[in-house]
Amino acid sequence: MNLEQKTDKFAEYINQSNNIVFFGGAGVSTESGIPDFRSSSGIYNKNEEYNTPPEVILSHTYFFENTEKFYDFYKSKMLYLNAKPNNAHKILAKLEKKNKLKAVITQNIDNLHQEAGSKNVIELHGTVKNNFCLDCRKKFDVNYIIERKNVPYCDNCGGIIKPDVVLYEEQLNYEAVNSAINYITKADMLIVGGTSLAVYPAAYYVSCFFSDNKNTNKKSVIINKTTTDYDKIFDISINEKIGEVLKKVYSELYVDN
Ligand code: APR
Repeated sequence: MNLEQKTDKFAEYINQSNNIVFFGGAGVSTESGIPDFRSSSGIYNKNEEYNTPPEVILSHTYFFENTEKFYDFYKSKMLYLNAKPNNAHKILAKLEKKNKLKAVITQNIDNLHQEAGSKNVIELHGTVKNNFCLDCRKKFDVNYIIERKNVPYCDNCGGIIKPDVVLYEEQLNYEAVNSAINYITKADMLIVGGTSLAVYPAAYYVSCFFSDNKNTNKKSVIINKTTTDYDKIFDISINEKIGEVLKKVYSELYVDN
């Protein structure tokens, strides 16, 4: 199938489905100006100024042993507070409003799905919006973090403040993981987008959807600029920009409202 045929089929699948779940990653936000991780222009490939791999800097151990350097990297490379939702975020929110899409499951921490209007967003890796004192657990918003020079300390007890994001070596939030599995196994259509599916449990979620083959008329689409190891198991795989693809597919479904 060519791109035109793929997007026509994609639109047909959405018309036939009422329990769609979206699973995405950093590639959903690149059209909002936020770099992804593993593309050639990704955060993990631009670490010349840090002589430590970003995957090490973004780890639990590094946070506690090199808190200053962690925050230097985190504030300069992981916070994009002026970024705005792009077409991908907006169309997914519209599909939820039309009661087609039941949940967005994201690996992203940028809150852009919520800013686009999505209500049911499962953030597997947490969010930059929430931060808390390691000692007294007092909560702080992200502005408190950026307004402080380097390491932010609690104004209540002086403890170190940590962003509520899942660092390497840390457990994912149990409720979020379980809820994601629940939605994915019940879905009649899975749309995966903007993720290399490189990190657990991303690939596990994909297998959850495909393993339950009782419901044979389930549909699956993956939209990723570069090919992934899982493309061929999806009914449709589109290696294009997700914002552009979703905008086109949506325009085939509804007069834009
Ligand atoms: N449209 C579609 N796909 C895109 C776009 C776009 N506009 N921009 C980038 N991509 C694709 C890239 O080709 C890449 O395959 O999105 C994918 C992003 O993959 P990664 O950079 O590996 O990001 P992600 O899959 O979200 O990583 C998962 O790894 O390090 C951890 O916590 C980090 O949440 C992250 C997790």
